[in-house]
Amino acid sequence: MQEKAKKITPQILKKLKECGEKIALLTAYDYPMALIEDHAGVEVILVGDSFGMVALGYESTLQVTMQEMLTACKAVRRGAKMAMVIADMPYMSYQPSNSLAIKNAGKFVGEANVDGVKLEGACPIVNRIKAIVDIGIPVMGHIGFTPQSLKKFGNYSVRGKSKKEIEKLIMDAKALEDAGVFSIIIECVVEGVANKIKKEVGVPIYGIGAGNECDGQILVVHDMLGLFPGFLPKYVKKYAELSGTIEEAVKKYIQEVKLGEFPDEEHSYH
Ligand code: KIV
Repeated sequence: MQEKAKKITPQILKKLKECGEKIALLTAYDYPMALIEDHAGVEVILVGDSFGMVALGYESTLQVTMQEMLTACKAVRRGAKMAMVIADMPYMSYQPSNSLAIKNAGKFVGEANVDGVKLEGACPIVNRIKAIVDIGIPVMGHIGFTPQSLKKFGNYSVRGKSKKEIEKLIMDAKALEDAGVFSIIIECVVEGVANKIKKEVGVPIYGIGAGNECDGQILVVHDMLGLFPGFLPKYVKKYAELSGTIEEAVKKYIQEVKLGEFPDEEHSYH
């Protein structure tokens, strides 16, 4: 497994972009997964609010709370030594006011010791982002499809299909850069749009369902490991089918318990 020499910072990510080295991000929500991802060499671990869906079983990301996100962030931080750990600010933890946004971003950094926070959206919340950046906390932006606005969008549709939508995405990315973000996630956007955005902004752009032109890619770890039984968007590539593997192991265990084969001599104290 590849060991990273230096702890990842926004400056290192910028350098990777400038050198043309693609950046690998993944989500994680607990200590063992953070240990594995960090050891494997992922540069950024996002404690996404997808935690609510893939690990807590909520219907959407809107139900996940600050307290739940803080617990997950603390666990991930303990496992990630080299990767940059970013906390996804949950629904209503930043939308109401700049002061609430600062207070909650401060909790993620002060209590969970994460390296930065992510906020969804652009033009309506750039003030929140600027306020957080101004107190010294790195912020990652997130545009395109933003799951916390699912009720407004109505569905999980792809963005950037029309000239107007592309212009809006470029405008959003520029507004985020002006507000001081150190990088931007673009979700569910037609191939080709990322390149147009890259021409207009200097910070690294990470794609999730946004084509191969981005400076890096992010996936939800439960999706790419085949651990989430729910709906999977087209962009998800499954690198493993762990739910099948786990179910087989659990079935074998049940069978051995029922047959009295477990524990055997090797797994008993003498
Ligand atoms: O919550 C999350 O996992 C995310 C990614 C999909 C980018 O925001």
